[in-house]
Amino acid sequence: MIGIFDSGAGGLSVFREIRKVLPQEQYIYFSDNAHCPYGEKSREYIIDRARHITEFLLSKGAEIIVVACNTATAAAIADLRREYGIRFIGMEPAIKPAAQCTRTGTVGVLATAGTLNADKYKNTREKFADGIRIVEHVGQGFVELVESGKTIGKEAEETVGRSLGPLLAEGADTIVLGCTHYPFLADTIRKVASQLVPGRHVTIIDPAPAVASHLLEVMKEENLLKPVPEGYGISLYSSGDPAALERTFNSLQCP
Ligand code: DGL
Repeated sequence: MIGIFDSGAGGLSVFREIRKVLPQEQYIYFSDNAHCPYGEKSREYIIDRARHITEFLLSKGAEIIVVACNTATAAAIADLRREYGIRFIGMEPAIKPAAQCTRTGTVGVLATAGTLNADKYKNTREKFADGIRIVEHVGQGFVELVESGKTIGKEAEETVGRSLGPLLAEGADTIVLGCTHYPFLADTIRKVASQLVPGRHVTIIDPAPAVASHLLEVMKEENLLKPVPEGYGISLYSSGDPAALERTFNSLQCP
């Protein structure tokens, strides 16, 4: 069984991609929305939450865990890997594909403060941003929009515009989504970009498909594949109000 967790419903954007490459596995998803957002919380706080959630997922039979949260990956995955005897798959900031994609030479990264301040992100940027200018902005209020189901409309567009606008003004034509909640705002991000810079083709990069392929490889390596003929099954758990998780899950249009 594959365990997946995030501070909220955002990790379902990763599950959506995982399901495409592993359509017959069993999943358990934990949304820590009683403690959401993680973005501005201390490293110690997030490590503590990650341990609690890991133990819960293990108690339910998870054999591998996807930390479907950039902030928790940056804060806690090294400790989790040291402390528990299973494999953990984390989120990677997609600087490398973005650097290959940009034509203006400027890449914009949207992520939480926790992710942008972490060594993991800084090291990735150092390694892959060769010759490319990277500009960053916290997606202020984005997580709240997704958790409240307001991913389209005037409020979403205004909120997105406040964080995306500065990146576009710097010349970015490629936007890395460095938080798993943000893919649920992709349509709004596209719409706002087309209004703010009408002549510029803006590409959005979501690392989730690469994370899903990596998970598949690790599952094969570790002999963890257990496909069932009737297709995937998923149990959803939430530390707080389950409504946000259920609403987002239903919007995935799972077969
Ligand atoms: N979805 C998360 C991430 O990928 C966390 C967002 C938050 O709770 O601030 O970073």
